Amino acid sequence: MSAFDAAISVPPATTGRRAVAFVDGKFAKRFVMVCGAVPALVLAWDAYRHHLGVNGVNFAIRTTGMLGLVFLTLSLAITPLRRLLGWNTLIAPRRNLGVLAFLYIATHFFIFFAYDRGGSVGSTLREIGSRVYLWFGTGALLLMILLALTSTDGMVARLGAKRWKRLHRVVYLAGGLASFHFLLRFKTPRLETIAWMGTIAVLLLIRAIDAARKRARMVQSS
Ligand code: HEM
Repeated sequence: MSAFDAAISVPPATTGRRAVAFVDGKFAKRFVMVCGAVPALVLAWDAYRHHLGVNGVNFAIRTTGMLGLVFLTLSLAITPLRRLLGWNTLIAPRRNLGVLAFLYIATHFFIFFAYDRGGSVGSTLREIGSRVYLWFGTGALLLMILLALTSTDGMVARLGAKRWKRLHRVVYLAGGLASFHFLLRFKTPRLETIAWMGTIAVLLLIRAIDAARKRARMVQSS
């Protein structure tokens, strides 16, 4: 096998579609992590050079929030896309996308806590309590923390694949709460906020239809 053949793999066509040559899983994981780190590096460089504009803290909060939402949505899109396209290699970087989403969201919250609220727990809690859009963001963050804590190999083994899979379906709830956080941040709904909500709703619908079909097949075969 040539080096080129080794670098690409042809995944088995489990969906009945024609298998598509695609980069191998290891490469896909590294590629996603490197690409995902670029916006963080650019933001950190701009912050270091005081190039974030007049309200740098707000700019950094909004940028990390948007990146968190993008990576969260991408991680939700992996399974439907894999089924649709038959590209099994797509599954490889799913966990990396989830990790990137968590890191950006944790940074988003950290900047809010440390710089916007001056590191005061009381002020942070009062601000969260007084703004409905922050209730949704905080709910999403708590779910993301739960998912991150249970994502280690040790936790997967302890929970068992079935329970772990069931628990990790809350990622859809996290996505839903995050999209409400974005929607309610503005006084009136904007097209982009509705588009994000719509995208997450469609991804959830595809997953629900898929699960229902799987259940029906299992009932038929038993
Ligand atoms: C999964 C969790 C979260 C996601 C995906 C998320 C995402 C976002 C997004 C997309 C924006 C709007 C960006 C823009 O305007 O371009 C935003 C804004 C914001 N978020 Fe979050 N967020 C999350 C959790 C939180 C939490 C836990 C807090 C704090 C308790 C928070 C505080 C804020 C603040 C203060 C803003 C800026 C509002 C403004 O500009 O007036 N977010 N977030």
